[in-house]
Amino acid sequence: MRSEETKNSSSSIHQRHLHHHPYRVVVKVALSFLLLLLGLTFRLLIPDTFSLSSPPPSPLPLQHALNTDTDDDHVPTLPSSPYISTNATDPPDTVAEACDIFVGDWVPDPSGPAYTNSTCRVIESHQDCASNGRPDSNYVHWRWKPRDCSLPRFDPRRFLDSMRDKSWAFIGDSISRNHVQSFVCSLSQAEEAVEVYHDEEYRSKIWHFPVHNFSVSVIWTPFLVKADIFEDINGVSSSETQLHLDVLDEKWTGQYHSFNYVVIAGGKWFLKTAIYHENDTVTGCHYCPGRNLTELGFDYAYRKVLRVVLSFVLDAKGGAFVFLRTTTPDHFENGEWFSGGTCNRTIPYKDGEVELRDVDTIMHDIEMEEFKAALEAGSKKGITLRLLDTTRLSLLRPDGHPGPYRESHPFAKDKNAKVQNDCLHWCLPGPIDSWNDLVMEMAGTP
Ligand SMILES: *[C@@H]1O[C@H](CO)[C@@H](O)[C@H](O)[C@H]1NC(C)=O
Ligand SMILES: *[C@@H]1O[C@H](CO)[C@@H](O)[C@H](O)[C@H]1NC(C)=O
Ligand SMILES: *[C@@H]1O[C@H](CO)[C@@H](O)[C@H](O)[C@H]1NC(C)=O
Ligand SMILES: *[C@@H]1O[C@H](CO)[C@@H](O)[C@H](O)[C@H]1NC(C)=O
Ligand SMILES: *[C@@H]1O[C@H](CO)[C@@H](O)[C@H](O)[C@H]1NC(C)=O
Ligand SMILES: *[C@@H]1O[C@H](CO)[C@@H](O)[C@H](O)[C@H]1NC(C)=O
Repeated sequence: MRSEETKNSSSSIHQRHLHHHPYRVVVKVALSFLLLLLGLTFRLLIPDTFSLSSPPPSPLPLQHALNTDTDDDHVPTLPSSPYISTNATDPPDTVAEACDIFVGDWVPDPSGPAYTNSTCRVIESHQDCASNGRPDSNYVHWRWKPRDCSLPRFDPRRFLDSMRDKSWAFIGDSISRNHVQSFVCSLSQAEEAVEVYHDEEYRSKIWHFPVHNFSVSVIWTPFLVKADIFEDINGVSSSETQLHLDVLDEKWTGQYHSFNYVVIAGGKWFLKTAIYHENDTVTGCHYCPGRNLTELGFDYAYRKVLRVVLSFVLDAKGGAFVFLRTTTPDHFENGEWFSGGTCNRTIPYKDGEVELRDVDTIMHDIEMEEFKAALEAGSKKGITLRLLDTTRLSLLRPDGHPGPYRESHPFAKDKNAKVQNDCLHWCLPGPIDSWNDLVMEMAGTP
């Protein structure tokens, strides 16, 4: 470790001059302050590191401490998505010309989910809401309906037939793992998946579908770049994360050439305390009071990392079909994850009923901007890039999270028990299953 990484320096941090609206500065200062108070507490509550003997983990990769009401009079608007389907291959059941499949509504769907707790074996316990005793089940009876076209439901058989000998990879944090479980659960209704690999912590896995010789990987790399994370077995952090903003994590780049389709996503881990390195030199940090370092802001790091990721993808040989998935909003209410926040709504919001929080707006804007820049460069190089813009449609689903039902029957002994809620990940089955409809449409599977 480097000597400047030792703690106890007591000088102040220098706030970066932000080229953003003033409200964002307020947000960041508030965020930093809350994280300062709560960084360690969170790790104690929900450790990110698990021992070999522990069951498959489902850490909340979240240090997210904003109130919903930081800026009531600011109404962030989402730019419209640059993913526009322009190829109607299978009318009338498919996307019409120039339909933005990310603009729409959740509509009642009496047909119910594609799989259940008894027909899918890969649901991790923390997202297995039905088995954990969640009393209501209406949340599985909604389907994402783009406003100007219909979106065919994910058809695992057709999908597998069109993906013979191919491989997919989901690259990112535990939301990517949440998505891959939904994907594998849906596919396993057509063919049983065989788990052929998992890492020690059950965070990265590979499944194989032998009949179709189809493979699905999930690679846990929450920052996408090289990150030295110092946590002991209980998830207690002994030092700040050292984040190398210009060095991609070999965990995914080393295998990248073997994938035909990749779904890449960054996210909430960038809100955590980190020391930033570039070109093997410490250039600053995010939320490191007491260190004589420049506060660069999580947005600085997130933009830089997405740029490096997309530039790698554009230069990579082999030409995978690349989805960049956008950030996922959470739905903590009446508090945050650390202060008794809950998410006990049982129906979706209607469009316009809820606004994206500032931190998600910042991340989403960066994703849009970097994606657009890469799209232009990519089209010259013949690389297929798509923005899987799930942010807005996810925002409308406060009802789809485990809440207290991340644990089995949390109120069995005491109906007033205080339990940690998960209002970030999604119940399986649940709203995240719609992401499969979207990727199947975008991948152009027949
Ligand atoms: C639509 O997709 C089909 C099959 O992928 C392709 O052959 C055709 O050229 C596409 N049409 C347009 C207008 O892009
Ligand atoms: C599966 O979910 C149902 C509710 O949908 C529940 O009654 C049942 O107990 C669950 N199965 C298991 C094995 O927990
Ligand atoms: C299965 O697919 C892989 C590519 O993902 C290919 O290399 C391999 O040859 C295929 N195996 C068979 C038996 O076709
Ligand atoms: C990285 O650092 C080396 C010296 O350590 C320097 O020669 C090089 O120009 C730097 N590169 C960039 C991109 O800053
Ligand atoms: C903080 O860093 C600056 C520039 O690296 C240096 O000039 C200053 O002496 C440092 N202050 C302390 C208290 O270490
Ligand atoms: C939801 O939670 C809030 C407090 O967080 C509580 O006041 C309300 O009664 C709850 N609603 C239901 C339906 O449980």
